[in-house]
Amino acid sequence: MSDAAAPASDPALPDPALKDRVILVTGAHGGLGAAASVACARAGATVVLLGRKVPKLNRIYDAVAAAGPEPLLYPLDLEGASADDYAEMAERIGSELGRLDGVLHCAANFAGLTPLLQTDPAAFARAIHVNLTARWWLTQACLPLLAKAGDAAVVFVLDDIARVGNAFWGGYGLAQHALSGLVGMLQSELAGSKIRISGLQPGPMRTPLRAKAYVEEGDRAARDPEAYAEACVTLLSPAGAAHRGRIWTPAA
Ligand SMILES: NC(=O)c1ccc[n+]([C@@H]2O[C@H](COP(=O)([O-])OP(=O)(O)OC[C@H]3O[C@@H](n4cnc5c(N)ncnc54)[C@H](OP(=O)(O)O)[C@@H]3O)[C@@H](O)[C@H]2O)c1
Repeated sequence: MSDAAAPASDPALPDPALKDRVILVTGAHGGLGAAASVACARAGATVVLLGRKVPKLNRIYDAVAAAGPEPLLYPLDLEGASADDYAEMAERIGSELGRLDGVLHCAANFAGLTPLLQTDPAAFARAIHVNLTARWWLTQACLPLLAKAGDAAVVFVLDDIARVGNAFWGGYGLAQHALSGLVGMLQSELAGSKIRISGLQPGPMRTPLRAKAYVEEGDRAARDPEAYAEACVTLLSPAGAAHRGRIWTPAA
């Protein structure tokens, strides 16, 4: 490699927050997932991009590769993936990248506002599974690899219970109650480990998920998901220690 292709880093500048780290992002081609993946790469991380649609993953791959180290694509549908699939995923990350320092859970299932009474039973089960059970199964499979890192983090992105705990938010809203419980419970159980568990509760963001509940033109409250990408980097980096076991609601 020529000198021009590899500029020497400026010793006067601090190392980027996620230098040499490997971060797995679920929902990597979604609104926040894509913005956070680019921000993690810019902060020095090799990002494993997990998503269920390969063409969309390819698009975000280019943006992430332009921002930092070459990412790894991991196509997987959380609806159908089994605990064995997550074990295989952790194994592959370990063998191909040698380490895992963080997991950022951005994948989420929300079918739209529906009264519980009219909710298709399969849709209810899908929402609970993708938003809660799959997040936990994936985390459980990754914990042994994360435990080998000097400083590791699992970040659950979750929604505001004060809003989505109300009528019509169905399985998505109910799963948010459970996720907020999971943050505290898991951190207590990992108290003696170097793994930090935290929640990130962003404000309203202009994404496909939000568009299922709010008409975009009248939605003045929503911000671009980029507004919360740096908060994801903070929680995945050593600076996230301040939020260990807690749910952070950063200002956009
Ligand atoms: N938007 C908001 O206002 C808001 C507010 C507070 C919290 N949040 C939270 O922010 C996080 C990110 O949401 P977002 O707003 O960025 O939503 P989004 O743009 O809809 O992104 C969600 C992602 O999850 C993926 N996904 C859904 N089901 C999946 C499955 N079975 N397997 C794999 N991936 C799947 C989606 O893939 P497809 O594109 O294939 O559907 C999409 O890439 C979520 O945890 C959400 O609860 C959002």
